[in-house]
Amino acid sequence: MTERIAVYPGSFDPLTNGHLDILARARRLADRVIVAILEQDQKTPLFSVEDRSGMIRDIVAGDPSISVASFSGLLVDFVIRSGATIIVRGLRAVSDYEYELQMALMNRRLAPSVETVFLMAKEEYSYVSSRLVKELARLGGDLTGLVPNTVRQRLADRF
Ligand code: PNS
Repeated sequence: MTERIAVYPGSFDPLTNGHLDILARARRLADRVIVAILEQDQKTPLFSVEDRSGMIRDIVAGDPSISVASFSGLLVDFVIRSGATIIVRGLRAVSDYEYELQMALMNRRLAPSVETVFLMAKEEYSYVSSRLVKELARLGGDLTGLVPNTVRQRLADRF
């Protein structure tokens, strides 16, 4: 049987517990999941791509079915190059929907054989975003339960 491979793309600057929850759900849908970090994002990231992949690799180290990669250019090109057929995206609130729908439909137009699947994280993560996590870290807020310990440590080192 052919292996079902999913790509979970994003900035992951940094990875949150919401991302981890989506990753665990994606893992149930696919034999292998590739966490794909966008390089050359227009936003200025807090952590370099190398830092982000290093952190994620540490966190998922126990699961051989999850790998970490980075990509530039079109996501669908990376997906096809990787032999994947699924793009996984997390949906939190309705406010995510419009942008995600546009992206999914554009990706479908570019690569009709690739399916985007939206997954919902646990409700307790529905308001967690990398942006808010960084803000909280900068202002000295408590990050317990919002990000993995590795990320919490790295944020503490930064601020
Ligand atoms: O976590 P993010 O920052 O919302 O992730 C956005 C991401 C990386 C999925 C998106 O920006 C992306 O796929 N960029 C690659 C460029 C691309 O393929 N664009 C066309 C899709 S409309």
